[in-house]
Amino acid sequence: MKVLLTGSSGFLGQEILKKLLAKNHKVLGLDIRKGLVNHKNFKFFKTDLKKKANINIKEKYDVAIHTAAIQPFKKDENFKKYINGNLITGKNFFDIAISLGIKKFIICSSFSVYGKTKKYIHENENLNPKNFYGLSKKFLESLAEYYHDNYNINVIILRFDGIFGQNQNLPSLIKMVIKNAILNKKIVLFNSGKLKRDYVYVEDAADSIILSLKKIDKYKFDVFNIGSGFPKTNLKITKTIVRYLDSKSKVEVIKNKNKNFNQDIFMNISKAKKKLEFKPKKLINNLKKIGFKK
Ligand SMILES: NC(=O)c1ccc[n+]([C@@H]2O[C@H](COP(=O)([O-])OP(=O)(O)OC[C@H]3O[C@@H](n4cnc5c(N)ncnc54)[C@H](O)[C@@H]3O)[C@@H](O)[C@H]2O)c1
Repeated sequence: MKVLLTGSSGFLGQEILKKLLAKNHKVLGLDIRKGLVNHKNFKFFKTDLKKKANINIKEKYDVAIHTAAIQPFKKDENFKKYINGNLITGKNFFDIAISLGIKKFIICSSFSVYGKTKKYIHENENLNPKNFYGLSKKFLESLAEYYHDNYNINVIILRFDGIFGQNQNLPSLIKMVIKNAILNKKIVLFNSGKLKRDYVYVEDAADSIILSLKKIDKYKFDVFNIGSGFPKTNLKITKTIVRYLDSKSKVEVIKNKNKNFNQDIFMNISKAKKKLEFKPKKLINNLKKIGFKK
């Protein structure tokens, strides 16, 4: 299969690329950063998708995976940044992919499209994003629907929960806990450690994309939540990591609220389990795969 992959130098993009090359697929990578892989089946163009790019390629491709995005590294509400970074980028991506003859699309979205909620969220829930990042992903999803309707293309949208793994760049609880536990430093948890999240391991997230590639002929336009399916409190996640690393870190819970995350966030992933045959692994099994240095 010939695959167009945007964000091929990113955290998730690199993992997808590894899996595609291992399966002998030919990949055309686009990223604003430099290409990180040298492989006979990997072509790379350093491209800023915020601008109209002229990809001078005559050959046709089969499928496109869009991971390139601007992510909320810190709490900021810069409308232009997210609209340019995720919506304009999305429009240019669709135009390039369609010019390469692609009819099958897999789009990375986020749990942020749902906004605040305290229950297991199903895919058909109202989208009510509470920040410009979530809003830009909601617009990207609408754009995908527009292209599906007008260009007769198949689209799968995957809404990811927080993705974790060794090379993750976004700050997260798991990243903080691992760092402190390795150094035997005290770990302080806000909201009494009671907040629940459903972080998904990067290999599982990449698997959901590979599974989508296999199923896309069947689903004309479909949306799937992707988490681990095992939501846990921050305290439980922390204790699991501290125990696994045999760390001497003390865990302290305080009542203060974390200003960035102060709600339970987890999605119902039963649709992905059933229709994509998605089988994420448990936290402890994924921790074993990450090469920790103590
Ligand atoms: N990491 C998470 O926790 C998480 C959670 C939910 C959804 N997602 C979504 O999953 C996808 C992958 O996330 P990630 O963690 O790998 O992100 P990342 O930031 O590591 O990777 C994104 C890649 O896109 C590239 N990129 C950004 N803007 C570009 C542009 N204008 N032109 C070309 N390339 C550009 C970046 O250089 C980077 O290599 C994104 O769409 C993200 O919104 C991620």
